[in-house]
Amino acid sequence: MPDRTPYVAANWKMHKTVAEAAEFVDALLPQIAATQSDVVICPPFTALGAVVERRYGTAVKVAAQNMHEEGSGAFTGEVSASMLVELGVEAVVLGHSERRQLFGESDEGLARKVAAALAAGLEPILCVGESEEARDAGQTDAVLEHQLEADLAEVNADDFGRLVIAYEPIWAIGTGRTATPEQAQETIAFIRDALRMRGGAGETVRILYGGSVKPGNAAELMAQPDIDGALVGGASLDPADFAAIVKAT
Ligand code: PGA
Repeated sequence: MPDRTPYVAANWKMHKTVAEAAEFVDALLPQIAATQSDVVICPPFTALGAVVERRYGTAVKVAAQNMHEEGSGAFTGEVSASMLVELGVEAVVLGHSERRQLFGESDEGLARKVAAALAAGLEPILCVGESEEARDAGQTDAVLEHQLEADLAEVNADDFGRLVIAYEPIWAIGTGRTATPEQAQETIAFIRDALRMRGGAGETVRILYGGSVKPGNAAELMAQPDIDGALVGGASLDPADFAAIVKAT
C-alpha cells in the first residue's frame, strides 16, 4: 500500500475568537508533539493570523474555511488565495456542505476555487458528500461522481496528488450519527477509484472522513485501509478531544 501520511483537520466553523484560538493552540501543541500525522487547524478568517503565529516552529498547518477564486476585485466580504498565502496559511477548505447548502456554493464556482487555490500554492481540502435522501435512494455513488467531476473540472489529473478530499456524508455532520467504518471505507474506496478512473493519482491522494468524528470512534475509522484521516468539527473545539483524535491516526 502506498505511504499516505495521515491528515487530521480541525474545522472550527464560526467558533473561537483570537484569544480563544491562541489558548487552544497553546493547549494542543504539547499534547501532539510526538505525532507523525499532518495536523491542520481551520480557524475563522479573523483568527488565522493568530494561529499562524502561535504554531511557528511546529508541524501544525493552518487552513482557511473558504476563499474567493479571483485574486482581487469588487467582491465585498470576500478574501482571495493570495491574501491567505501572505498570512502564512497553507491550505483551504472548499465546498463544505454548509457552504453548499447555506451559502449557495455551486460546483461551477468550486471548480474555479480549487484551480485558484492550487495556482496560489494552497492545498485544497475539497469536501464532498451525499444527503440522507440520496443515500436512501441509492444515489451516493452518482452524487459523489458528479461532485468530483464538476469540482475538479479545471484540475489536471497530474495534480490530484496535491489535493486532499474530505468525504463528509451530510447526514453525519453535527448529528452524532457517524457513518459506520465499513460505510466510510466503502465510499472512500469508491472516491479513490473514481479519481483513478479520471487518470489521477488515486493511490497518493489523501481522503479523509468527516461527520461526528469523536475520540471514541476515531481509531476504528482510521483503521480502515482507504481512510487517511479526519475532518473534525464539533470535537475539534476542545484541545484534549482533538489531541485524542490526532493520536488515533
Ligand atoms: P462534525 O462536523 O464533526 O461536528 O460532525 C464535521 C464537519 O462539518 O467538518
